Amino acid sequence: MLAAYAVSQSPTDPLSGLVVGQRPDPAARPGWSVVKLRAAGLNHHDVWSLRGTGLPADRLPMVLGCDGAGVDEAGNEVIVHAVVPSDGWVGDETLDPARTLLSELYDGTLAEYVAVPSRNLVPKPAGLSFEHAACLSTAWLTAYRMLFVNAGLTPGATVLVQGAGGGVSTALTQLGSAAGYRVWTTSRDEGKRARALEIGADQAFSPGERLPERVDAVMETVGAATWSHSVNSLRPGGTIVISGATSGDAPAKAELTKIFFKQLRVVGSTMGTRSELERLANFVVHQGITPVIDSAFALADARRGFEKMVAGDVFGKVVFTI
Ligand SMILES: NC(=O)c1ccc[n+]([C@@H]2O[C@H](COP(=O)([O-])OP(=O)(O)OC[C@H]3O[C@@H](n4cnc5c(N)ncnc54)[C@H](OP(=O)(O)O)[C@@H]3O)[C@@H](O)[C@H]2O)c1
Repeated sequence: MLAAYAVSQSPTDPLSGLVVGQRPDPAARPGWSVVKLRAAGLNHHDVWSLRGTGLPADRLPMVLGCDGAGVDEAGNEVIVHAVVPSDGWVGDETLDPARTLLSELYDGTLAEYVAVPSRNLVPKPAGLSFEHAACLSTAWLTAYRMLFVNAGLTPGATVLVQGAGGGVSTALTQLGSAAGYRVWTTSRDEGKRARALEIGADQAFSPGERLPERVDAVMETVGAATWSHSVNSLRPGGTIVISGATSGDAPAKAELTKIFFKQLRVVGSTMGTRSELERLANFVVHQGITPVIDSAFALADARRGFEKMVAGDVFGKVVFTI
C-alpha cells in the first residue's frame, strides 16, 4: 500500500527521514479491524516523530499519522480513534501509562489502510465529509478535552488561545465560539489574526500584547514562547490548560511566584477518550461547524503538506486524500 512513513530521524532536518512509498498492507489480528482510509490528517505529532521525539528509533520504519476516516471491513463509515490502551486496560485510556498513539507502536493513518482495535472505531456522522472527519482524531479531540473537560469553564467565559493558526488552535477557536465562550487569540501573523476573527474569535492580538482585561482560562500549545504571557493574562484563580510546547518546554521564566500568588491552576491535557471523540463528532455536526482545512493533498504528495507544517505556514488542518 502507499504510505507516508519515517525511515530515520533528525532534530534539525525532520523531512530528511520522510518517505512516501510502498509498505506492506496491515495484517488482520483478533479484536482489531482494518480500515480502508479515505482521508487522513497531519499533526505536529508527525513532525515530532521525524525529529526523534516520542518515537524510538528502533521502531522505524513507521507509518506516520494519527488522524483518519474511512470504511471498515463491514462497510461502515468510521473515524479512527488514535489512542491505543494496553491489553486489559479499563477506563479513561488517556490515563493508561502504557497507552500509545497510532504511529508510535503500531503503524499510523497516512496510508491506504490502517489496523486498529475494533473499539477504536467511531461512527462517522453522515453530515461530515471524510476530509472533515479526518481532522477530528487528534487536534480537534485534544481541543475538545482542553475546553470542555479540563478548563472548568461555563458559557460566557473569556478564553485566550495562544497561536491562532495551528490545528489545535483553530479547533479551540471554532469549538469555543460554538459553545458560547468569548475567544481571544494571539498570532505572529497578521493574516492569521484576521482569519481567526472569521472563524469565531472575538479579538486577535500580537504575541505578548497586553489584553483589555484578564481572562478566565488560557489554552496553551505554544509553550516557551508564550508561557509568561499566558500566566500574566489570567485573572486570579484562572486556569491554564496545556497540551503542547511547539516552541520548546523550557520557558525563560517558569512564573512560579505568579502561579501561587494568583492561585492559578495549571492543567495538563492529552488527546481524549473514544467517547469524547464520538461526542465531538456529534457536536461538530449539530452545531454546523466546518473544521478549517488549510490545504488538502493527495497522499502521494504528502511531503508538500509536511513542508507547510514545518515552515509554520498553516491555518487549520492539513489533510491528505486517499
Ligand atoms: N497533548 C496532546 O495530546 C496533543 C495533541 C495535539 C497536539 N499537541 C501539540 O500541540 C502543538 C500544536 O499542534 P498542532 O498539530 O496544532 O500544530 P501546528 O498545526 O503546527 O500548530 C502550530 C501552532 O504553534 C504556533 N507557534 C509555533 N511556533 C511558535 C512560536 N515560536 N511562537 C509562537 N507561536 C508559535 C503557531 O501560531 P501562529 O503561527 O498563529 O503564530 C500555530 O498556532 C504541538 O506541539 C503538538 O505536539 C499535543
